[in-house]
Amino acid sequence: MKTNGIAVLLITSLFFAAAALARPLHRYDYTTKSCRSFGEGQLEWDSRPWGVGGKVFRQLCKKCHFRGNEAGASFLQVESKTSKGWNRVFAERKVACARDGAWDGLTMDQQLKLNDYLYRFAFGTMDIYDEV
Ligand code: HEC
Repeated sequence: MKTNGIAVLLITSLFFAAAALARPLHRYDYTTKSCRSFGEGQLEWDSRPWGVGGKVFRQLCKKCHFRGNEAGASFLQVESKTSKGWNRVFAERKVACARDGAWDGLTMDQQLKLNDYLYRFAFGTMDIYDEV
């Protein structure tokens, strides 16, 4: 009886640990001071690798941040930072390229979706129970 109780406890805690590691469904945006929900609807799509967020990352950020680039930019991929780390990049806008004007063509809508995408698929968000 006692071992059964322990087994149930173990399974329950594993379940909660897995749930805690699942990809996030929303994030707080410090620029607009609002909560963004990408668990469903249009934002669910836009925050994916093939949505607006992923496209902006490939078309703008990866223009410089690829291996062996001549702009002096470090190699960056979605898993280069944690969700919190990516949120900080956009909240502070202190990185060299943001200050140099390399982000100037970026609309607020694109920035928010790019941030959603990076946050959602950041380092540490992968979970074996996720579909993607
Ligand atoms: C014109 C080239 C260029 C573009 C476009 C560009 N960057 Fe950069 N970025 C740089 C350079 C150069 C640095 C300074 C060197 C470094 O730290 O990588 C930098 C620095 C950074 C850093 C700090 C380095 C680190 O590893 O934390 C981050 C984060 C970053 N960029 C993110 C982005 C994002 C997000 C985009 C797209 C919105 C972007 N960059 C677009 C050239 C660029």
